[in-house]
Amino acid sequence: AKMLTVKNMSFKTGQQLTITGKPTSATGFAINIGHSEDTVALHFNPRFCEQTIVCNSKKSGVWQSEQRERSFPFHVNEEFKVTIQFSGQNFNIRLPNGNIIQFPNRSGDSKFKYIYVTGDVRILGIKIK
Ligand code: GAL
Repeated sequence: AKMLTVKNMSFKTGQQLTITGKPTSATGFAINIGHSEDTVALHFNPRFCEQTIVCNSKKSGVWQSEQRERSFPFHVNEEFKVTIQFSGQNFNIRLPNGNIIQFPNRSGDSKFKYIYVTGDVRILGIKIK
């Protein structure tokens, strides 16, 4: 799978991560925040075929229970902006249409250093502040 890994950046409680990008095909992509490929606190996965956003976490290489969101404000070749605010308790994900998805921080960790993106998307910018 195509993969963009962000190095030398950490994402901590109170911070906000903004990603801008463009889906390059009607398949899907995922933004992942965690410690490794096997330990993911937030997997944010828009799927065009299902017109659904799947969120999940992964523990020791095993996917946990999915949370699905039916609003799907993504289009092929259309630039989007997603902002993920991390309160410590939750990831509050602002979609391009303004809807907010709340996904719990299941591990309770307060700092993540492994951010990676997979799938058919061209990332135009990543900002943490
Ligand atoms: C699986 C899929 C993974 C991930 C996971 C989320 O079916 O293969 O890439 O999206 O669902 O629960």
